[in-house]
Amino acid sequence: MLSSAALVFSCLVLNGLVLASPVAQSSGSGSSLTVPIRKSVSITSGHNVVDTGHARAQSFRGRAAGQQTSASSTAKRQSVGVKNEAITYIAQVSVGTSKQKFNLLVDSGSSNTWVGANTTNAYVPSSSSVWTDDIVIVEYGSGYFFGYEYYDTLTLSNALVITNQSLGGASFSQGFTTMDGILGIGPIALTDGTILGSTAPVFTVPTVSDNLYTQGKISNEVVGVAFAPTTGASNEPEGALVFGAQDSSRFVGQITYVPKETDYWGINQSISYKGVEIMATSTGVIDTGTTLLYLPTDTFNSYIASTGGVFDEATGLYEITEAQYNALEDLVFNIGGTELPLTPNAQIWPRSLNGNIGGAQGKIYLNAVSTEPVNGLNFINGYVFLERYYTVFDTTNNRVGFAATSFTNATSN
Ligand SMILES: *[C@@H]1O[C@H](CO)[C@@H](O)[C@H](O)[C@H]1NC(C)=O
Ligand SMILES: *[C@@H]1O[C@H](CO)[C@@H](O)[C@H](O)[C@H]1NC(C)=O
Ligand SMILES: *[C@@H]1O[C@H](CO)[C@@H](O)[C@H](O)[C@H]1NC(C)=O
Ligand SMILES: *[C@@H]1O[C@H](CO)[C@@H](O)[C@H](O)[C@H]1NC(C)=O
Repeated sequence: MLSSAALVFSCLVLNGLVLASPVAQSSGSGSSLTVPIRKSVSITSGHNVVDTGHARAQSFRGRAAGQQTSASSTAKRQSVGVKNEAITYIAQVSVGTSKQKFNLLVDSGSSNTWVGANTTNAYVPSSSSVWTDDIVIVEYGSGYFFGYEYYDTLTLSNALVITNQSLGGASFSQGFTTMDGILGIGPIALTDGTILGSTAPVFTVPTVSDNLYTQGKISNEVVGVAFAPTTGASNEPEGALVFGAQDSSRFVGQITYVPKETDYWGINQSISYKGVEIMATSTGVIDTGTTLLYLPTDTFNSYIASTGGVFDEATGLYEITEAQYNALEDLVFNIGGTELPLTPNAQIWPRSLNGNIGGAQGKIYLNAVSTEPVNGLNFINGYVFLERYYTVFDTTNNRVGFAATSFTNATSN
């Protein structure tokens, strides 16, 4: 508790120093604008975690399939509620002149930012709040919210204060029980069709990253996501969102960039296991709102056959024995010609959290599950990947970057 408070405090101090010259920073300088992310662990069932990811994949797929037609016809479906997740990544923000505090899910798979899911912490407009005359509705597959769309001051940290941020104040929401709403760090295209304008035909609303950039708080429109694996220790390393520049203390070596594919933060990658390519280069999504690793059915079947995993009814995941665990090899992601291995330890559910998903102590469950592949959505790299590789969502250059971290080879699971 104390150490995480100290970490938050040191980030705020750092941001305070950066504030003096917010646009003078450069990539690689480490003078980044950091927002701490708290990891929240709850108890659910493994089936719920798997199903939530499937529902999310289903809504991604709906949009990917509809991409050739009008964007706005499919845009409202973005992702799903997260009430059934065992782990969620939460950023605390404050809104308005009253500095009302909200705990928001960090979501790269959607782009509207909104508050008020917790009705006992409903949004209270302050003197900085202006109603836009619009209504906002976002469907998230198995959840949704609607409410009034405001402009208000959104404070992410001392240095990251956005004036006039488009912000939904929920009148009603469903599917969000452990958070106050969402901090949407997806691309602006995903807001298309979410606003019902009464005065003007509004189609998209600028995201938090868009406004940080246009208001000169950051000199490149990028956000880096630093997640850390769950250790089960009381001083868990937590995560961070790094806006505007690269924070070189958060990764090691070079960042590999690949072009962004699809309206989501999508990329192309191939996957090999034990020297055999089990997924040819295809397109899928990098998602801070999905826990597990979703692989196309054929790829998943090859992987399971090689590992010897057996379906476990209690969790909905595949279980392996200790001997099979010892025989695991790296699951190698090839992204833009660079190999990013997921170590054996990174391929298994954190054993300290077995009980949180209905599993038994001492058992070993694989993090991968299968998904029905469609064009544009063949895989989802969820937390299990993001906790091992620093990930950069770069709007300015329309690309996504990855770098190894001190957690890439960690054996915390
Ligand atoms: C907020 O943004 C809206 C839309 O861009 C604009 O009409 C309004 O004047 C802005 N308000 C302030 C205080 O900047
Ligand atoms: C909802 O908000 C109230 C008041 O801030 C807080 O006490 C409660 O813990 C919140 N509930 C959840 C599930 O976050
Ligand atoms: C990514 O893969 C898709 C097919 O899934 C292809 O159309 C596209 O050109 C690829 N992008 C790059 C940069 O190779
Ligand atoms: C992880 O381990 C591999 C194999 O020992 C090594 O090549 C690589 O540099 C390590 N990566 C990091 C980030 O420590």
